[in-house]
Amino acid sequence: MRTQADLRAWRRKQSAQLIFVPTMGGLHQGHAALIRTAASHQATVLVSVFVNPLQFGPAEDFERYPRTLEADCRLAADAGADALWAPSPEVIYPAGAEDCWRLQVPASLQQHLCGQGRPGHFDGVATVVSRLLALVQPTRMLLGEKDWQQLTILRQLVQDLALPVQIEGVPTVRASDGLALSSRNQYLSDEERSRAVALPRVLRAAATTESLASIKAALDQAGLDVEYVERVDPHTLQPCGSEIAISLLAAAVRCGTTRLIDHAFLMTRQPLVAIDGPAGAGKSTVTRAFAEHLGLVYLDTGAMYRSVTWLVQTRGVDPADAAAIEPLLDGLDLQLRSLPGGGQQVLVNGEDVSVAIRSPEVTASVSAVAAHRCVRQALTAQQKAMGAKGGLVAEGRDIGTAVFPDADLKVFLTATVEERARRRALDLEQRGFPVPERTALEEQIAERDRLDSTREEAPLVQADDALELVTDGMSIDAVIQSLVQQFRCRVSEEAWPTPAG
Ligand code: PAJ
Repeated sequence: MRTQADLRAWRRKQSAQLIFVPTMGGLHQGHAALIRTAASHQATVLVSVFVNPLQFGPAEDFERYPRTLEADCRLAADAGADALWAPSPEVIYPAGAEDCWRLQVPASLQQHLCGQGRPGHFDGVATVVSRLLALVQPTRMLLGEKDWQQLTILRQLVQDLALPVQIEGVPTVRASDGLALSSRNQYLSDEERSRAVALPRVLRAAATTESLASIKAALDQAGLDVEYVERVDPHTLQPCGSEIAISLLAAAVRCGTTRLIDHAFLMTRQPLVAIDGPAGAGKSTVTRAFAEHLGLVYLDTGAMYRSVTWLVQTRGVDPADAAAIEPLLDGLDLQLRSLPGGGQQVLVNGEDVSVAIRSPEVTASVSAVAAHRCVRQALTAQQKAMGAKGGLVAEGRDIGTAVFPDADLKVFLTATVEERARRRALDLEQRGFPVPERTALEEQIAERDRLDSTREEAPLVQADDALELVTDGMSIDAVIQSLVQQFRCRVSEEAWPTPAG
C-alpha cells in the first residue's frame, strides 16, 4: 500500500488487534525476527517502510540509504506480515519535511549515547513514529532492542503522551560471528566486515569492573574509530558505574565510513525485583506469576516467617517470648525450592514443612512472631544472602528499602481501600465465609494499613525509587503484563531471555 486512503481502507477490514512493525526498509533477518514475533501473537501484522528524512543529519546517509522495496515486500510476506505500507513523504509530512510539526525528546534521554553525535536524530524518530502511530492505530508496536536508546525513548514517549499502544522489544539478531544485523552492514567491504566483529566481541568481553578507557582502547586497537563508549543506567540512560548491578555498555564506532552501534548488558549479578505493598493488594499471586513468567525464583518471605512460627510452635515456645525464640534462630537451616510446574517446597532443618506452615495455628501466630526484632534480623540476613546472586523476585513490606535496596526494579503494588475491601468480600463469599458489611471491611483494612506503616519493626514503606502501581480495575494478567514491561525497560531480552512456554 502507498497512500493514506489505501491504508484506511485496509485497516477497516482488519481485526481489532493490529501489530505494527515500523522500519526504514533494507529489510534483513533482524526485521524478519520482529515480523515473526508479531505474527506469533495471532493478530494482523502491518510493516511500514519509510526512510524518514527528519532523522538523518545533513552529513548523513539519507541519499544512499538502501531502498529495496521489492525484496522488502518478499521478506515481510515470508516472515508473516499481512501487509506492507510504503508511504511517500507527502503522506507522512503533508506540509513538507521543512514545515512540519516536530516533537522534542527530553534532553536527559538524548544527552548521551547516540544523542550527542546525532543532534535532532531522536526528535526525528519520535516525530515520525507518533505520526505513523496516529495513521496506523495499532494495538501493539514491535521494536528491536538493538537500538536500545530508540526503544527507551519511544517507550517513554508512549508512556508520557499516554498513546494507546503497547510496546514490545525484540532481542537483537546477530550474524554467527556476533555482529548485529543492520541495514547499514551492506555498506561494509569484506575487509571492513571482518574488522567490525570486534565491536560485539569487545563489548561482550568487557568485565563489570573494566574502565571505559580500556574498552575504548581495545576498540581502537581493532581498527575501529570510536565515536563513544558509555556505560549508562538502561532505563534513565544516565551515566553510571558498577553501583548499578545491571547497566548498559554501549558504543558507536566507524568502520571505514559506516557507522555501527552495539551494546552489551553488564551484570554484577542476576536480576533482582522487589515488590512491596499493603496487605490485600494481590502481591503474592502477582509476584508468583511474574517470577514464573521471567524465570526468576519467587522468594516467598511470608513462607519464611511462617516457617519460624511453625518451629516456635513445634518446640512448644511462646510466640510472644523473644528471648525463648532467639536460640531457635541460631543455625536455622531454611530452604525454599521451586518445584517444576510452579509450586514451592519449604524445608526447615531438612524437614518439608510446605503444608504445615499453612495451618490456621501458624496463621494465627505469624504476626506475633514476625514482630520480634531478632526474627526480622535473622530472616532479613538470610534473604540478603539468598539475593546476593540475584535471580529473585521478593515480595513483602520493606524489600525495596531494607532487604534489597539495590533491586533492579522496585514496585509498590497497591489498591485503594475500597478496592481491597471489594476483593476481600468477593474472596470470602467464594470460599463460603460470612461477608462483613463493606464499611466494616474498609475500616479493618485501613486500620491494618495504619498498623503496618507505623509499627516499629520493619514498617511498610514505599522506596523513593519504587514505581507505584495502583491496581484498581486491573485484571491480574494486566498487572503482570505491566510489571513485565517495567522489567523489560531495565533488562533486555538478550541479557535475560524470557523462558519458552
Ligand atoms: P530500522 O533501522 O529499519 O529498524 C526497524 C526496526 O528493526 C527497529 O525497531 C530496529 O531496532 C529493529 N532492528 C534493526 N536491526 C535489528 C536486529 N539486528 N535485531 C533486532 N531488531 C533489529 O529503527 C528504525 O528503522 C527507525 O528509526 C524507525 C523506528 C522505523 C523510525 O523511522
